[in-house]
Amino acid sequence: MPHARNRNPSPTPEVTWDTGLKEMNETWKGAIACLGVAIFFVMTIGIIYWQVVDQPNKNWILRGTFSGLIWERRTRSLVIQTLTEDKTFVEIDVGNVGNPEIEVSFVRNLCWLNKTEFCYTWDSVAEVKISLEVDEETETECYSMTWTPVHCHVELKDCFSMTNVSWYGGAGVRGQTWPINDQNATTQPFTVSDLKDNPSGFGSALERYFLGSSGVAVFVSPDVPLQLGMDSRQQFCLQSLPSLERLPLQYTVCVARNVKAAHQEAAQQLSHHGRELPNLDVLWLPFWKLLAYMDSGPKVERELRTFSNRLRRHQLGEGVISLSEHSTTLLSDIDHDYLKSRKRGMTKRLTRDLPLVKLLNISITLSPFLGVDTTQFHASLVDGTEAYWLSLPSAPQGHLIPVMSRWRGRFCVKLNVTNPGAVSWFLDRVGALQAHLGMEYIMLEGGEGNLFEEQVLRPPQTLGGDNYFGLLADLATRMGDSTIVTAGTRSNHKPLFVRMTPMQSDWSPMGLKGIIPSLLHHTLLGYNFLIPDAVGGSLSGNLLTDEELFIRWLEIAAFLPVISFHTPPWIYNEDWVLNLTRAYIAKHQSDVVPLIEKYAEEWRATRSPIYRPMWWLSPSDPVTFTIDDQFLIGDEVLVAPVVEKGAVQRDIYLPDGGFQWQDSQNAQTERITLLHMPLLNPDYTHVWIIAVSAMYILR
Ligand SMILES: *[C@@H]1O[C@H](CO)[C@@H](O)[C@H](O)[C@H]1NC(C)=O
Ligand SMILES: *[C@@H]1O[C@H](CO)[C@@H](O)[C@H](O)[C@H]1NC(C)=O
Ligand SMILES: *[C@@H]1O[C@H](CO)[C@@H](O)[C@H](O)[C@H]1NC(C)=O
Ligand SMILES: *[C@@H]1O[C@H](CO)[C@@H](O)[C@H](O)[C@H]1NC(C)=O
Ligand SMILES: *[C@@H]1O[C@H](CO)[C@@H](O)[C@H](O)[C@H]1NC(C)=O
Ligand SMILES: *[C@@H]1O[C@H](CO)[C@@H](O)[C@H](O)[C@H]1NC(C)=O
Repeated sequence: MPHARNRNPSPTPEVTWDTGLKEMNETWKGAIACLGVAIFFVMTIGIIYWQVVDQPNKNWILRGTFSGLIWERRTRSLVIQTLTEDKTFVEIDVGNVGNPEIEVSFVRNLCWLNKTEFCYTWDSVAEVKISLEVDEETETECYSMTWTPVHCHVELKDCFSMTNVSWYGGAGVRGQTWPINDQNATTQPFTVSDLKDNPSGFGSALERYFLGSSGVAVFVSPDVPLQLGMDSRQQFCLQSLPSLERLPLQYTVCVARNVKAAHQEAAQQLSHHGRELPNLDVLWLPFWKLLAYMDSGPKVERELRTFSNRLRRHQLGEGVISLSEHSTTLLSDIDHDYLKSRKRGMTKRLTRDLPLVKLLNISITLSPFLGVDTTQFHASLVDGTEAYWLSLPSAPQGHLIPVMSRWRGRFCVKLNVTNPGAVSWFLDRVGALQAHLGMEYIMLEGGEGNLFEEQVLRPPQTLGGDNYFGLLADLATRMGDSTIVTAGTRSNHKPLFVRMTPMQSDWSPMGLKGIIPSLLHHTLLGYNFLIPDAVGGSLSGNLLTDEELFIRWLEIAAFLPVISFHTPPWIYNEDWVLNLTRAYIAKHQSDVVPLIEKYAEEWRATRSPIYRPMWWLSPSDPVTFTIDDQFLIGDEVLVAPVVEKGAVQRDIYLPDGGFQWQDSQNAQTERITLLHMPLLNPDYTHVWIIAVSAMYILR
C-alpha cells in the first residue's frame, strides 16, 4: 500500500512563543529540552522496533495454486514453498545483491495489483521482476526472474542452496559426482572446455539446466554471459558479468510434484528443436584404439593390418579401429610420400595397397586446427584466404591476422567456422579423405573453449561463449550422421555422438567410480549417444596392467552404448580375460543394443533419457536421490555393477512401487528393496542385471 499522506490545508494557529519563553528560567528550559530528547529517543526506538523486530520474518511475494514465493528477511533469500509451508522446493540466496549492510525488511510489490507479477528495486543495485506462470495441465508452476543491474559495475549473484536438496545437471567436471552436491568449482565462465587441458574447468556435457530432488528445475537464459561457482555441499551460484550493456541475470525456476515430473517439464521447455537420431549402426561394433608410435603413413598402414589380423586371430569379431589425429594425418599424406619417393626412383617397398585399408572399418580423427608450419597454411596466406582462420584485424580497418594457439603441443591456427569458404574447404578435405581411406566414422576433436577469451581478446559477437562449439557441431552434422564430437552443449537434438572425457586408470571417482555419474549426467542433459572412455581408462595413455580393474570396467562398458578399448585384452596373456571380453562384446550386441534402439525411439518421441537414474522409478523415495552406482536402461533393466576393488558382492537397491524384480541369471523374482547378495564366483564372471519383469502388469 502506498502511503496516504495527510496534507491538512487548515491554517496553523498563530503562536507567540517569544513572550512566554522570555519569562522561563534556565532550569525550565533544561527540563523541556531533556523531555524533548527523551521523546525523540522513545520514538526512534519505537520506529526501529517496528521496522526490525516487529516485522514478520518473511512475507509472501507471489502465490500460485500449490506453491508460493516468500521473501525471507533474515537470510536475505527467496524461498519457494508449498502454500501450506510443509515443503521447501528451493532456497535462493540473493544476499549478494546490493549492500549486505542494508537490511531489506519488507519487499513491497511495485507492480501492485498484479497477482502474477512482482517488481522491486534494490536501491542503486538492481531491479527485479518475477512473473509466475501456472500450468494446470502438467501441475507445474514457473517463476521467471529477471535481475537488471541499474549501473554497469553491478555483478549479480544468486545462490541456490544444496542443503536438503540433491542437485543434478549443469556442467560436467573432472571427477563427476551424482548428485553434484559434493563438487567444488571456482567461479568461472559457464562454457565447455577440454578437461584434458583444463582439469578444473567445465567440460564435455554442459547445459544451463539444473534439477533438484525436491521437484525443482532451473534454466538460465541462453543469451546472457554466465559464470558458475560451486561450494561443495552448500550452494551453487549463478553470476553475471558486469557489462556496459547492463545485461540482466535471467532464469526460470519451475516446481512440480516430484523430481521426475520437474525433469519431464524441463525437457519440454529446454529445447523446441526436432530431435534427430544419429546412425545407430555405430553401436554394434566395439572401437579399438590403434596404439603405436608411428612416424610415417606406410607404418600406420602396416600397423592397421597387423592389428586387424590380431583381432581376427583372437576371435574378437568385427570392430572399428580408431586412429588418432596424428595417425590420420600420416595416413592421408601417404599418396604424397609415395609420389615423392617414386619421383626419386626409390624402392618399390612402398607399394600402396590402401584398398586394404578401405576394407577395414576405421574411424579417423580430425580437428579444426591447422599447424602454422604446414604447406596448407602457407598456401592460404598466399591465396589471401587468411579469413579461413580465426583472425582479428591488426587495426580498426587493417588486415586480418590469424590468431595463433597451441593444440597437442603444436602452434596452430583454428578454422573460422563462420566463414562459408572455410567450411566448404574443410568439407572438401573430408570428402577427399573419404575417397582415399573409406573411413566409417569421424571423430571431430577440439571444438571446446573460446580461442579469444583464453587469450584475453575480445571475441567477435558471433563467437562469444560457446558459439564456436555450436557452429562446429553444425559442421559435424554436415559430415554425416555418425560423426563423434568431444563435447555437448545446446546440441543434444543433433544427430551426433558425444565422446566422454578420458578417465584415470584407477578405482577413484576420476576413474571407474566416475563412469556411472558421468553417464547419468550426460543422459539427463539429453546426450544419450555416448562413446564412453576406453575400458580401463585412457587419460594417461598407458596400457592398463590391473586385470581386475579391466574386467570390472568391461562389465560396466558392456551396458553402455559402445564398448571401446585402449588396452587390448590379449596383453594379459590369460585365456579367461579374452573369453570374458568376447562374452561381454556378445552380450552387448545381443541384449544391450536392441534395448538402446528401442529407447532411442522413446527418447525421440518423449525426451525421456535412455539411461535413467534410480529415482526415475521411485521419484519420491529420498534413498534413490544419491544412488550413484546403479542405473536403469529404459524402465526395464537395472544394472548394478561392482565398483569396489576386491569386492565380490554388493548391495543392490530395488526401488519399491509395486514392481516385481527378476534376476536375469536365475529368473527368480524379488519384492524386497535391498538385496544383499553374494556376488557369484570370485572370477568376476558376472554382473548383476535385473529386469523389471512385470512393471505394467502389477499396476
Ligand atoms: C500482470 O502483468 C502481466 C505481465 O505484464 C500481464 O500480462 C497481466 O495481464 C497483469 N495482470 C493483471 C491482473 O493486471
Ligand atoms: C533440512 O531438513 C531438516 C530435517 O527435515 C530440517 O530440520 C532443516 O531445517 C532443513 N534445513 C534447511 C536449510 O532447510
Ligand atoms: C570441496 O571443498 C571443501 C572445502 O574446501 C572440501 O572439504 C571438500 O573435500 C571439497 N570436495 C571435493 C569433492 O573436492
Ligand atoms: C565393417 O562394418 C560393417 C557393419 O557396419 C560390417 O558389415 C563389415 O563386415 C565390417 N568390416 C570389417 C572388415 O570389419
Ligand atoms: C571469419 O570469416 C568471416 C567471413 O570472411 C569474416 O568476416 C570474419 O571476420 C572472420 N572471423 C574471424 C573471427 O576471423
Ligand atoms: C575359453 O573359452 C574356450 C572355448 O569356449 C574354452 O575352451 C576355454 O576353456 C576357456 N578358457 C577359460 C580360461 O575360461
